[in-house]
Amino acid sequence: HSLKAVGATHGLLTGCAVNVRALRDDKPYAGLVASQSSILVAENAMKWQALHPAPDTYTFEAADGLIAFAESHRIKIRGHNLCWHLYNPQWLSAIAPGQGSAVLREHIERVAGRYAGRMHSWDVVNEAIEPRDGRADGLRNSPWLTLAGPDYIELAFKTARAADPTALLCYNDYGIEGENEEARRKRQAILLLLHRLKTRAIPIDAVGIQCHLTAGNPNAFGPGLMDFLREIRGMDLQVFLTELDINDRQLPADQATRDAAVAGTYARFLDLVLTEPAVTCLLTWGITDKYTWLNTEKARPDHLPERCLPFDADYKPKPAFAAMRTSIAHR
Ligand code: G3I
Repeated sequence: HSLKAVGATHGLLTGCAVNVRALRDDKPYAGLVASQSSILVAENAMKWQALHPAPDTYTFEAADGLIAFAESHRIKIRGHNLCWHLYNPQWLSAIAPGQGSAVLREHIERVAGRYAGRMHSWDVVNEAIEPRDGRADGLRNSPWLTLAGPDYIELAFKTARAADPTALLCYNDYGIEGENEEARRKRQAILLLLHRLKTRAIPIDAVGIQCHLTAGNPNAFGPGLMDFLREIRGMDLQVFLTELDINDRQLPADQATRDAAVAGTYARFLDLVLTEPAVTCLLTWGITDKYTWLNTEKARPDHLPERCLPFDADYKPKPAFAAMRTSIAHR
């Protein structure tokens, strides 16, 4: 059975981030994506730099293509993302401090408005919390903080709700899962933000936990994460597992050893996190090792290609695929 078939019987949308160019040009990849996914997200094609290359220029072709593909296969779509401190177009740096609210509002109205009624959810704001930046409210020193002030997060959510009342609005972040001081601080700061948004009746429906994990790290996840998810459920918010991948950078070179350790980590993580009833979506960040970002961003010391996703570079299922399916089936 496919991940989406097993997911469907356990109240879970399953899918992955897609490389939109490969979806168009690599037919076996498109077939694999369609066979396993009930929800998709563009890895890059719906970010600011991809959609909004100049102040008065929007380029929607790639995003339109992904949405057409998804709708033709009756697959839901997540939007990623309407506000982030990275992957912004160059022209944004020319906006004067304090003049960014109108720019942010216009982008969200234009983009979320274009796909209104057709999106499962949006990552309205991505990675806005960074306690190491030293602010009492835990906000990251993002360009958006300079451009639009600390209320940029509320502005983004309110604008997104007005532009697409049917989409679930999500706050997405990483570095949340670990049993370590930094992850604990991040979880606390995110809860502070969520309580502030709820107190001010700002529209928000879900929290996205990216789940970029490292195989072989005994503190990659644990009770602190589960307490956090319970608190989120207590605020009537859904939990999306938005970018799951399990890097094998700390594992020995032997392929069978790496694949078994990665599969074991998928199993242990999902067995734990799927006990949380608020979890409604499970997306891996890519579906095949052929297109993982991990090979571009952080190579292994031995420079062997990463084997972090459920399918290998030849689209063959790896032990991680069976591990994911078993965990979902035991939910
Ligand atoms: O498309 C250009 C290509 O024309 C150019 O030749 C090449 C070299 O400069 O760059 C290509 O763009 C790259 C793009 O990925 C598409 O491959 C960018 O440089 C590169 O920065 C971009 O990286 C993406 C990164 O976000 C930044 O947007 C990764 O693929 C993507 O996996 C990663 O995803 C993020 C999530 O959005 C948020 N959570 C963390 C996650 C991993 O960093």
